[in-house]
Amino acid sequence: MALELPAGVNKRYATLAAITISIFWLWIVFDRPYELPDNISWNIYSGATKPTATTSTHAIDSTVDLFDVPVLESEALKEVCYETHWNKSLVFTCDESAGGIGSIRSSVLHCIRYAVAAGASLVLPSIVLRNASDISHISTGLKTDLEYMFDVPYFMHSVRLSCPGLNILESKAKIKDLNTEYDAISLLPDSVVNFTNPIHGQPKLEKVIGTSFHDPITWRAEFYGWLRQFYIKDRKGPVVVDLEISHLQYPVASDGEGFALDFGSLLRFRADVRGLATQVIQGLAEQYTPNINLTADYYPNAFFGVHLRTEKDAAELRLAQDSTFSSFETQSRLYLDQTPQSQPSVIYVSSGDLDEVAKFTLEATKNNNTVNIPVVTKFDLLKGVALAELNALTWDQQAMVDFLVMLKASDFAGVGHSGFAWNIALKRHTLAQQKKYLDGPQMLSDDLSQIYGNVRGYPEFAACIWP
Ligand SMILES: *[C@@H]1O[C@H](CO)[C@@H](O)[C@H](O)[C@H]1NC(C)=O
Ligand SMILES: *[C@@H]1O[C@H](CO)[C@@H](O)[C@H](O)[C@H]1NC(C)=O
Ligand SMILES: *[C@@H]1O[C@H](CO)[C@@H](O)[C@H](O)[C@H]1NC(C)=O
Ligand SMILES: *[C@@H]1O[C@H](CO)[C@@H](O)[C@H](O)[C@H]1NC(C)=O
Ligand SMILES: *[C@@H]1O[C@H](CO)[C@@H](O)[C@H](O)[C@H]1NC(C)=O
Ligand SMILES: *[C@@H]1O[C@H](CO)[C@@H](O)[C@H](O)[C@H]1NC(C)=O
Repeated sequence: MALELPAGVNKRYATLAAITISIFWLWIVFDRPYELPDNISWNIYSGATKPTATTSTHAIDSTVDLFDVPVLESEALKEVCYETHWNKSLVFTCDESAGGIGSIRSSVLHCIRYAVAAGASLVLPSIVLRNASDISHISTGLKTDLEYMFDVPYFMHSVRLSCPGLNILESKAKIKDLNTEYDAISLLPDSVVNFTNPIHGQPKLEKVIGTSFHDPITWRAEFYGWLRQFYIKDRKGPVVVDLEISHLQYPVASDGEGFALDFGSLLRFRADVRGLATQVIQGLAEQYTPNINLTADYYPNAFFGVHLRTEKDAAELRLAQDSTFSSFETQSRLYLDQTPQSQPSVIYVSSGDLDEVAKFTLEATKNNNTVNIPVVTKFDLLKGVALAELNALTWDQQAMVDFLVMLKASDFAGVGHSGFAWNIALKRHTLAQQKKYLDGPQMLSDDLSQIYGNVRGYPEFAACIWP
């Protein structure tokens, strides 16, 4: 990853940048939830009893979209955007978002939030493609459009309704009066904040723990202070600032609960991914849990969602403090112990390594808790055209199908070094009865999810991910 700091940026910023980059590397290194083969041929029921088909009211219907959430019209966002002093001569770009769906979603949201904080226009963000033949290679430099993952018309419409002052430009070519004499300035947004300042206010949500708290007003002032060094007398045309990737930096609680809860809904996954996730769920319902109400936010006593994060890359690169939680033995034991809590009919596993899924399935059949509970993945539940469509998606797009399916699970389990798991658990937490979730017994515990790891570890995940 190229770290381009503009001339004049002092050492302190460079150090901050380096820290940010390391956090980013930890994130992507530990956030590669899938290792998918091109074809899935093994039989999940080897050694287990195949459940008999149940008559069900849930036929597979490819026209239904269970994730067709309405366009966002948020009063909390409107209020912030209304108070923002918009600056017509400032444009941000956001073209460095890379990694898995968790980090890309978070990075794009950070760009939008910083654009609002500065009052800048924002060129529609783009996404850095992962190398399809070597998935550990994430910073290929190949860029693709936002629609690779997200529903762009939905985003544009939501911005118009919730933050009409924010000017979204379709492309750099649409920047008005762009003066090509001047280069864009690169900025790691968090680096302008003076982290040595005392905390500026009290966190409003319990979510902020242990991170360098800063508020958007302070950020704006620091940003314009930083920008002054690039001042050119009689300059013509807007200043363009290229935002570097930044996530796990902005404490979402600093905007208040209403804003924090709504903001993430500016982004919705693309339609084909939503459709496939819907069909996976219809498949689950048809085969295993005929009585669920598909339109409910989540399904009690239906399926247990497990994020098995034991792929080779995680095993090789684990941190000392994660060695316990990154092992297959620990994860399978914890997940199988958790299974009975939601009395599920089936366990749905998200994992990239199907050998690991097979090992997990075998463990499930040997465990008294789960001996009669089948274990499935999305590849078992989709058929025909839908399966072909899933196979045609890239590795990161396939992960998005699991992300949506997990939102509806009766109960969810993951490990704390995965941003994918945190994204899901924090989104599910908005539906949970239990308000406190960081006080143990696990790293995150509520009535809908458990994230395993050292309690109060990785505070930046809990603090800086918009649900
Ligand atoms: C707007 O942004 C420009 C840089 O493009 C800056 O020079 C100017 O001070 C900003 N104006 C306000 C009111 O913040
Ligand atoms: C992707 O990875 C393959 C195999 O390592 C390599 O040959 C190729 O050059 C890479 N492509 C890009 C765009 O980085
Ligand atoms: C950063 O904060 C420290 C401690 O409050 C203060 O002494 C220093 O002047 C601040 N620097 C800037 C650039 O704001
Ligand atoms: C299914 O759930 C939705 C959303 O919670 C609710 O509006 C609807 O009444 C439920 N349908 C039945 C048959 O319970
Ligand atoms: C499973 O149940 C059997 C019979 O009740 C018992 O003998 C065995 O010890 C149990 N195994 C475990 C791992 O609990
Ligand atoms: C792999 O999947 C593709 C797409 O579904 C299919 O066309 C192909 O025949 C499969 N190959 C094998 C070896 O099963």
